[in-house]
Amino acid sequence: MAHIWQGLLKEYEQYMPDYLKASTLGDSVVTMREGSTPFLRASFLEEITGASKVFVKYEGVNPTGSFKDRGMTAAMSNAKAKGAKAVVCASTGNTSASAAAYAVRAGLKCAVLVPDGKIAMGKLSQAIAAGAHLLQVEGNFDDCLNLARKLSSDYPVELVNSVNPARIEGQKTASFEIVDELGDAPDIHCLPVGNAGNITAYWKGYKEYNEAGQSTKLPKMWGFQAAGAAPIVLGHVVENPETVATAIRIGNPASWKKAEAARDESHGLIDSVTDEEILAAHKLLSTKAGIFVEPASAAGVAGLIKKAKAGEVPAGATIAITVTGHGLKDPQWAVRGLDGVEVTPTKIPVDEVAAAKILDL
Ligand code: F0G
Repeated sequence: MAHIWQGLLKEYEQYMPDYLKASTLGDSVVTMREGSTPFLRASFLEEITGASKVFVKYEGVNPTGSFKDRGMTAAMSNAKAKGAKAVVCASTGNTSASAAAYAVRAGLKCAVLVPDGKIAMGKLSQAIAAGAHLLQVEGNFDDCLNLARKLSSDYPVELVNSVNPARIEGQKTASFEIVDELGDAPDIHCLPVGNAGNITAYWKGYKEYNEAGQSTKLPKMWGFQAAGAAPIVLGHVVENPETVATAIRIGNPASWKKAEAARDESHGLIDSVTDEEILAAHKLLSTKAGIFVEPASAAGVAGLIKKAKAGEVPAGATIAITVTGHGLKDPQWAVRGLDGVEVTPTKIPVDEVAAAKILDL
């Protein structure tokens, strides 16, 4: 019989701390069978970079369309097991979409705090559809997170942002899946950095799997922030972060120190990529690999291309890149670029000859 994927907490139970083991949680496991996402060879990136193998981990195909579901199954199960009645999160959109859906399945009330006017419509609609209490805060993501932290310390509501350690435990499983597929760790792992929880989680996962004897080496972690929201690169808080990649429009990442530790322990780097580089990578992913992502998700690809241009990608390397969220969440960038020029479909009458002529058949 084929193995039916049961979701992260069950599949990777032996690598979870006791409080998150499926056997401890029992009926409190909240899952949408997240994880087991496609790990796709991207030969166009091998041609551009000279690396021998480049793979893209397509996290947009998780149940709510982003990698957040990996963390949310753990955080929501833990909240349910603890008897919480409500959860709260700050979000640039994906965390709120994931929290809203998982809270429904957990039977918990969900409040989400999002920055006013800076959330992609796809994500906003997900939180609304699930019936979350959506509060648009007159501030940016960093203000939202401060507010969410205060609410969770002063009121009986569980914080499900990535400052919650359960989130990191869930998200570390993406590294396990990559090692399981490759038979070892890659040489380099590229990914976008926003609030810096995910780079923290991946590094934890790679280290734990290595200690368990599942890999012979550890990758260099290469994180990429958007140039207009690059506090770790600049070495100071960015008061008014700006980027088309709204998911990573963050000026004061909560896991700043942990991201620096991942970078330094792995002998990696954290660099920035411009909006133009992000959108160019976004387009290449679609046109060369059929992988449709939201802009922030393309930051790791943009970063790898930037490093290749600078001659910093070692020939012969095996590289994994995480693309974090689905293109349908923020589809406007596929039809309208930074220049504002819109792609309009060609209109034709109901006529076979006209269609064939335009298609050059
Ligand atoms: N990519 C996407 C699509 C994201 O939504 C996020 C974060 C990141 C990358 C960065 O990950 O924060 O762990 O460094 N989104 C959060 C949210 C902030 O609220 O949805 P990170």
